[in-house]
Amino acid sequence: MSQRRLFVTTALPYANGHFHIGHIMEYIQADIWVRFQRMQGNEVHFVCADDAHGAPIMIAADKAGKTPQQFVADIAAGRKPYLDGFHIAFDNWHSTDAPENHELAQQIYRDLKANGLIETRTIEQFFDPEKNMFLHDRFIKGECPNCHAKDQYGDNCEVCGKVYSPTELINPYSALSGAKPVLKNSEHFFFKLSDPRCLAFLDQWTQSGAVQPEVLNKISEWIEPGEDGKPKMGDWDISRDAPYFGIEIPDAPGKYFYVWLDAPVGYLASLKNWFGKKGLDFDAFMADPATEQFHFIGKDIITFHTLFWPAMLHFSGRKVPNAVFVHGFLTVNNGEKMSKSRGTGLDPMKYLQLGMNPEWLRYYLAAKLSARNEDI
Ligand code: 2FM
Ligand code: ZN
Repeated sequence: MSQRRLFVTTALPYANGHFHIGHIMEYIQADIWVRFQRMQGNEVHFVCADDAHGAPIMIAADKAGKTPQQFVADIAAGRKPYLDGFHIAFDNWHSTDAPENHELAQQIYRDLKANGLIETRTIEQFFDPEKNMFLHDRFIKGECPNCHAKDQYGDNCEVCGKVYSPTELINPYSALSGAKPVLKNSEHFFFKLSDPRCLAFLDQWTQSGAVQPEVLNKISEWIEPGEDGKPKMGDWDISRDAPYFGIEIPDAPGKYFYVWLDAPVGYLASLKNWFGKKGLDFDAFMADPATEQFHFIGKDIITFHTLFWPAMLHFSGRKVPNAVFVHGFLTVNNGEKMSKSRGTGLDPMKYLQLGMNPEWLRYYLAAKLSARNEDI
């Protein structure tokens, strides 16, 4: 059999903190799979990058008294001991703020626009009059309209679980300045995922064997008609207003791509950067129908990877993933998600500092993980 040519990624971690054990688990799973493919004689390009953009990173950098670029660079500088320590051998580590990603994200956007899949609409949003910026749902707090718990975030209540829009909060305030936010209009850019062409493509792609059966069950409600005869899929708001740490939208001053638009493009940017270093032809590799593309991710980011990302690729005339492999969460005791704030997180660096053998953890995780996306 002739040698297969594979392009493999793990999810790109946000550049706002060190790796936790969940990152390391995903990288170990992918790293083992990559080593297996190479032992079969296949050619594999295994890449990752820092997910650099977005409002939370911009605000964390500001708090730390750094530029977002410096903040992200400092996080990136601490990555190597973890990866080396657990024998995780990515071919390349890049950043979504790198020039390759700016160019690719803008080109994909232009291609989607030329295909008639980008639309602008004016929406009403909360604005912080002291900070002079539109507020992300997580930066608006107030009283839950359902159970009246105080200090709840703008997207959902942590006490009763109700999901709402920030404009429904009672006595809303900006979590950045404490000011009372005002409603302001802004023009936003949308990717028309509810277009019949997108739904028809996603229906076909998701049933092509690219996703695990349990993932298909979960996502089909977005594509298949529901009780009201319509699928749940709406258009996707892909823009954010300045100030924002991100990539500028072409021909739209003051507008940036929402971080989740440019993050997966970072897979391509890291591969392109790697091919540049090796003197290989990135465009030829990606245009070759025989090239296979695989992504390893956690179950919390399924919709981005199995709906938005394949549609972005397909309708910009690019190769779509052959498969997205979804794993579950690492949990403690009673199935609770590990959490640093609850004191149930495990620091992978501590494991190494105690002198424990990384192969033990690799073996343990390999034995526990399976092709299913159940928690372990
Ligand atoms: O959920 C996360 O941690 C994101 N940073 C994953 C991005 S994956 C890809 F799209 F970049
Ligand atoms: Zn509530």
